[in-house]
Amino acid sequence: MSRLTASPAWQALGRHREQMAEQQVRSLFAADPTRFERFSFESCGILLDYSKNRITAETVGLLADLARERDLEGWRARLFAGDPINTTEGRAVLHTALRQQTNEPVRPGGADDAITEVRSVMNRVRTFVDGVRFGSITGLSGRRFKDVVNIGIGGSDLGPLMVAEALLPYHHPDLRVRFVSNVDGTNLYDTLDWLDPETTLFIVTSKTFTTEETMTNARSARNWFLTEGGTEADIGKHFIAVSANEAEVRAFGIGPESTFSFWDWVGGRFSLWSAVGLPVALATGMERFDALLAGANAMDEHFRTAPLESNMPVLLGLLGVWAINFLDAPAQAVVPYDQYLHRLPAYLQQLDMESNGKSVDRDGCAVDYATAPVIFGEPGTNAQHSFFQLLHQGTRPIPVDFLAAAESHNPFGDHQRLLLANMLAQSEALMRGRTVEETRAELEASNTPNARLEALLPHKVFEGSRPSNTLLYRKLDPFTLGALIALYEHKIFVQGVIWNLNSFDQWGVELGKSLARTIGAELATGPSAAHDSSTIGQIRWLRPRMVLDTE
Ligand code: F6P
Repeated sequence: MSRLTASPAWQALGRHREQMAEQQVRSLFAADPTRFERFSFESCGILLDYSKNRITAETVGLLADLARERDLEGWRARLFAGDPINTTEGRAVLHTALRQQTNEPVRPGGADDAITEVRSVMNRVRTFVDGVRFGSITGLSGRRFKDVVNIGIGGSDLGPLMVAEALLPYHHPDLRVRFVSNVDGTNLYDTLDWLDPETTLFIVTSKTFTTEETMTNARSARNWFLTEGGTEADIGKHFIAVSANEAEVRAFGIGPESTFSFWDWVGGRFSLWSAVGLPVALATGMERFDALLAGANAMDEHFRTAPLESNMPVLLGLLGVWAINFLDAPAQAVVPYDQYLHRLPAYLQQLDMESNGKSVDRDGCAVDYATAPVIFGEPGTNAQHSFFQLLHQGTRPIPVDFLAAAESHNPFGDHQRLLLANMLAQSEALMRGRTVEETRAELEASNTPNARLEALLPHKVFEGSRPSNTLLYRKLDPFTLGALIALYEHKIFVQGVIWNLNSFDQWGVELGKSLARTIGAELATGPSAAHDSSTIGQIRWLRPRMVLDTE
């Protein structure tokens, strides 16, 4: 048994699970008309309703005991103070400093004040953004930029892409942002096909500036630019870099005047608040980007100061632990009833699964408990017509996070009312289910013949008590979006603390990267005997059939 599973708080939750196993959530609602008031609250413009989880006040108390026992408050203080809590990489974790609204110094691992450095880079970002948006910074022929192409992958793509999509109503009408991430040439080809090199600005975003996909795309984009009439002398005007590795940026040929730095204490998947957010700032303007940061900072302050039992990220994290470790939930669905959040599930996949998808704890010991769930999702109502069947009647509980705005940016006729009705209906149906008696009564009322009724009955019953959280906000504006993202960042941190994980490294992505380098060479020369027969067989099958552009 690990220290966690042997701990008094964990053991107490295990005993409590036995009591809760048969507890129907609909009965808890029936017994307590104030259940919504007791298990919901608002912060930073977001209402969290967690009343539809299989919990009582005792569950919340026991989960908070677990958080205290794991010293969540201590870890939280170390996070904000800039202690090197990313121990395997010896780094501080200070994405919160990127959105700090005061000038109070923060020293990552005791080094120079991070806030001064952040302000200095962001001032350059501000000047650049205003210059491009207002037309004083232009391309080679003096024409205004019309297209911005962000080349990056993982944290250097998913965050800015998700936010750019979410804030589409705030975009500059004459400046389009596009994102190229995949090394599949189709991604770049499809993007470049529409572009005029004279009015296109490329942002090469990579913390390391060594990521193969990004560097390959960046080189191909540069070749395209040169082939389409640009010259080497124009590169500095059309290619800018966002990176923590200035040496590699120089080696690529981008000068200091076209480089925006960030720091090793900003994890890739937490970097959208830095110059990595440049595509968002260019599209929506610096004022909107500032509002995004302010929203995230408001959530930071809530997380830092609110008591554990009424602390939104803490509760979301603990409810996840309850579902994953005590109710055996293998996955977590994220279903925004807000089309502009359509990339949120993809963004959260990296944020959550790269952070906590680990089976070894901080001390290098194998864990004996489940960690990160599989994150998946799609916007509602589309999701209802794909995977909701499994959520309602599958064999295991999958918690759902529902998200919705009261007000749409596009108030077409009756759409918003229907959208919200569907979301409310789904969370109610998941929680309430439909008993055998209710199902029988319904079938009888529709005059179903007896034999057919008996055959259909088991298929039409819903177990219910399927957990969900609902996050409501007035309208998806930059401030609210910032708060929402920070909410999930801190939720994941909370879970990492409970599970005793380092949520800020990602060694699991390295093996495939290094094998890809070897195999890349062997696709040209032939496979070595070092591989298994499957890999060798596939290389042999592919080699004579591959068609490469050798020009
Ligand atoms: O996939 C691994 C990873 O290192 C992510 O953590 C990171 O966000 C992504 O690659 C991109 O890295 P970089 O910004 O250094 O190109």
